[in-house]
Parts: sequence; C-alpha cells; structure tokens
Amino acid sequence: MKITYYGHASFLMEIAGQKILVDPFISPNPNAAHINIDEIQCDLILVSHGHGDHIADVMSIAKRLGVTVVSNPEVIGWFQKQGLEKVQYLNFGGTFRNAWGDVKYTPALHSSSMPDGSYGGNPGGFVINTPEGTVFYSGDTCLSYDFKLIAEEFKIDLAILPIGDTFTMGAKEASKLAQFVQCNKVMGVHYDTFPAIVIDHAKAKAEFSSNGQELYLLEIGESRDF
Ligand code: NI
Ligand code: MN
Repeated sequence: MKITYYGHASFLMEIAGQKILVDPFISPNPNAAHINIDEIQCDLILVSHGHGDHIADVMSIAKRLGVTVVSNPEVIGWFQKQGLEKVQYLNFGGTFRNAWGDVKYTPALHSSSMPDGSYGGNPGGFVINTPEGTVFYSGDTCLSYDFKLIAEEFKIDLAILPIGDTFTMGAKEASKLAQFVQCNKVMGVHYDTFPAIVIDHAKAKAEFSSNGQELYLLEIGESRDF
C-alpha cells in the first residue's frame, strides 16, 4: 500500500486498487500551501469526526469527483444539508462492505462538533481491511484499553495515530496504543500544524523505538510504500 501525507491528519491511502482520502484539511493549512486540492484524485473520502481541522476540504473534493463520503450519521447529515449526495453513514461497530475490502468505524475518545457549532455525533476512527493489507487510523483520541479489541479482530499492518498532544494523545501514549493494536509500524499525524502541537521529532521517534516500533513522519506531499 502507498500513503501520501497532506499535512495535519490528512492523507491518501492507495490500497487494493482504491484511492482513499482521509480527513482532508489542506487548503487552510499554510504548511500544505504547495498541495493543490484540485489535483487530488480519490475514490472515497473518510471523515473521522466533525472538527474543522478534519473536514475543511471534504465538500469541494467530494463535489468535484462525485465520490462517496463515509462518516458518522451526524457528520453525514450536516454535509447532506450542503448538498452532498453520495454518502455512507456508519456508527460505532458498523462496517461498509465493498468488493475490494471493508471499512469499519471505531470509537475514539475526543469531542465532535461541526464548524457552525451543531452536533457532530461521536468521534471515531477507521479500520480499512483489504486483501492487500489492513490499516488502522484511530482519529483524534487519547489512549484507552478498548483499543486492544482492534487486535482481537484484525491483524493491523500500519497504524496511523495522532502524536501532537494538547488536542489528542502525545507520542508516548500513541506508542502504547500501537502496542495495544499489536502493530510496530506507525505513521504519525496531527502534529506541527499549530503552535500548540509542534513536537520534537527525534524525541517522538525515540518513544516508539524504545518499544521496538518504528515511527514514520512524512513530509507534506511525500508518498511512501508500506
Ligand atoms: Ni478533533
Ligand atoms: Mn483534530
């Protein structure tokens, strides 16, 4: 599988013949000024929760490409009011089943309101389970023992976890979460975008390596095969 990082918690996953865009927040991010959202191609968009730093570019990309947006019922309802037509809602435990693989919506411990203050349902994450590999993106969350349940159901090949602290867990807890999901390969997200979440990269990598794990921190616009 190939992952392209678009900054903050935005990335494109190319897996099992699909291009899956996750939590697009690109045009408002000055660090991602070199990414042209009109050039992004995808087959599906996943949205973990309703906060602005995860949904900013959903409507423009979904409308241009006519692709399905997957999120919880409240986030989906909010987009439908703005004219989004192709949708798949999932609440916790729900799975979107496709010929190429499945997408399961998993709980996160965070908050979720839409940019206009309306209710955004519960925040979540996703397991993308395909014959080519299985990826777990936790969404914005802290650490919880419940993440051990993910490893009971799936063999995770890559975990994509927030590491920026302040709004989510930091690197130390994320490394523990990676242990809970039994995955030694972690891509870090949700760091360096705002002053409150600027992190020391070497220190974050050391937290993971001390537990026998590898932390990947991609440059914005960089692609990597996992
Ligand atoms: Ni959030
Ligand atoms: Mn966030």
